[in-house]
Amino acid sequence: MVTENKATITYVQLLKEDLGIFRLVPNDGEVPEYKAGQFITLGMRVPGEKNVIRRAYSIASHPENRRYIELVIRWVRKPVPGRLTTQLFNAREGDEVTWIRPTGAALLINDRLPDGRRDERRIVCVGGGTGIAPFASFASHLHAVGDRREIVVLHGASYVDELSYKSLFTDLEYESLDRGRDRWNFTYRAAISRPQEWFNRSWGGHTGRVETFLRPADGGRSPLEELVGEKITGENTIFYICGWQGTIDGAMDYLRPSGFVTQREKRPDGSFEVKFESYG
Ligand SMILES: Cc1cc2nc3c(=O)[nH]c(=O)nc-3n(C[C@H](O)[C@H](O)[C@H](O)COP(=O)(O)OP(=O)(O)OC[C@H]3O[C@@H](n4cnc5c(N)ncnc54)[C@H](O)[C@@H]3O)c2cc1C
Ligand SMILES: NC(=O)c1ccc[n+]([C@@H]2O[C@H](COP(=O)([O-])OP(=O)(O)OC[C@H]3O[C@@H](n4cnc5c(N)ncnc54)[C@H](OP(=O)(O)O)[C@@H]3O)[C@@H](O)[C@H]2O)c1
Repeated sequence: MVTENKATITYVQLLKEDLGIFRLVPNDGEVPEYKAGQFITLGMRVPGEKNVIRRAYSIASHPENRRYIELVIRWVRKPVPGRLTTQLFNAREGDEVTWIRPTGAALLINDRLPDGRRDERRIVCVGGGTGIAPFASFASHLHAVGDRREIVVLHGASYVDELSYKSLFTDLEYESLDRGRDRWNFTYRAAISRPQEWFNRSWGGHTGRVETFLRPADGGRSPLEELVGEKITGENTIFYICGWQGTIDGAMDYLRPSGFVTQREKRPDGSFEVKFESYG
């Protein structure tokens, strides 16, 4: 039987009217065990609804953080206000929600190859919008355990104020430069998909949707390959993608011609190079 627990919202940071970072502390004080890449199910009572409304949210904090669970959540407004997110964005620090223990296997970090060897491939995370949440967890977790693999986090957003973990990722990249990439090898790049909009006028980085980091330039390397300095292959890189189905499909359009397959369609020998979780 699924156990429903209670937690208190202890921190709300609105990045904008419809995007916020929320922290929850279980009322018994015990942050549940979970793995980077998993999601938690929140529940709230919603006026006019008979049953508690429950929704899944990817956990942005990392398992070593025993103080709180952090989430980054979009208030869904269209075509009609979303039930749980409207209630959550109306809530205040100190209010209660219910939760069901973290779960989810789609985005667990791969540590072993099918033949039992350690998976030492470069980790490339591609997050669209709030789909960056599992990768904030990955980055902090891999940092906490001293993982030496190369990690590249690519985040796509419509607007610059939606780059929710820019500060965390930028600091992690600086640390790579300070300590040396042989000890901590982390790179972060973002893409803004509406560069022509006035609000984005300060943006000087990559433009377009996040999957265009994987698009080969005319006859040459993709922006990702330029960034890492070599051709991306299934032998040297594993991809983790979270976002709209269009983000997954767009990324696979660039990866499939190079022979990449997803975990869901893994080869008879168990090998694959892409894990994903899509919205909806
Ligand atoms: C594994 C997983 C992880 C997730 N992680 C995150 C995360 O990290 N951050 C995040 O923000 N979200 C995340 N989500 C999405 C989240 O679970 C919810 O789906 C989302 O917050 C919307 O919930 P809601 O109750 O507010 O909207 P709902 O009430 O469920 O509405 C959903 C959509 O349907 C439309 N709709 C509802 N009723 C009607 C109607 N009568 N007629 C027409 N349209 C209607 C709404 O306008 C809205 O567009 C995740 C989902 C999954 C599956
Ligand atoms: N794991 C999950 O299932 C999960 C995780 C997080 C969020 N969600 C849910 O996903 C919904 C929206 O997320 P969001 O608000 O974070 O996204 P968003 O900010 O609307 O979009 C993020 C980026 O994705 C692009 N994009 C939009 N539609 C796309 C499509 N069809 N194909 C490819 N790219 C697309 C946007 O480009 P443009 O600027 O061109 O629009 C933008 O660059 C919310 O309802 C949220 O609850 C689900």
